[in-house]
Amino acid sequence: MSRELFENALREVRRFYEASQELSGFKAFPGDDGLRWQELEPHYINPATLFSEDQSIQSGQFSDALDALLAVKDVALWRETYKDTNIGDDFLNRFGCYELFGWEGHFHCQETRGFIVYSAGELYYPWHHHPAEEMYFILAGEAEFATEGNSPKMLKPGDTVFHAENQPHNMQTREKGVLAWVQWRGDMSVAPVLTDHLNGEL
Ligand SMILES: [Fe+2]
Repeated sequence: MSRELFENALREVRRFYEASQELSGFKAFPGDDGLRWQELEPHYINPATLFSEDQSIQSGQFSDALDALLAVKDVALWRETYKDTNIGDDFLNRFGCYELFGWEGHFHCQETRGFIVYSAGELYYPWHHHPAEEMYFILAGEAEFATEGNSPKMLKPGDTVFHAENQPHNMQTREKGVLAWVQWRGDMSVAPVLTDHLNGEL
C-alpha cells in the first residue's frame, strides 16, 4: 500500500519537475528504467507532524504535489542528518527531510538524488555545505536563502536557487514555513556538514 502512495508522490513530483526549466536543466528527471522501488523501513520524526499541520504551506499552485507528499509522511524514511551535531533541539524538532529518489531513496536512482525538505516558520538552518551541486525548488511557503558573500533572498513557490560544490548556504524562515524540493548532482557521496567557521557559536 505504501508503494502506491510513493508512486503517486513520484508522479506529482515529476509534473512540477518537468515543467520547471531550472530543475530539468539542472538534471533531467530520471527515466523509468533509472528508478527502482525499494522497500525502506519508515522512520518518523516530530517535524513530520508539524509538516502535516502547518497552515502556511497548505495551498497554492503546487497543492496536488503537496497533498501527495503529505500522504507519505507516515511511511517515509525521515532523515536525521544533524542529530549528533550542536545544531540544537529546536532545529531537530522543527526541520525534516526525506529522500524520494536517489541512493537511499524510496526509489533507488543512481545518477541523481531528490529530497523533500520541510522547515517550520521562524527557524534558522545554519551555514552548511556539501560537495554535491544542489538546486532548491520552492513548493509552498517561503524562506530566505543566503550563500556565502551574498545577501539573503526571499524565495516563494516556483523560485529556485543553485548551490555550487561546497558553497556554504543557509536558510531562514520567517512567519511561514517552507516546503522545498531539493535536487543533487555531482559528488553525492558526502552528507551535508555545518560550516563551522561561518556559524560562530551554535
Ligand atoms: Fe544544501
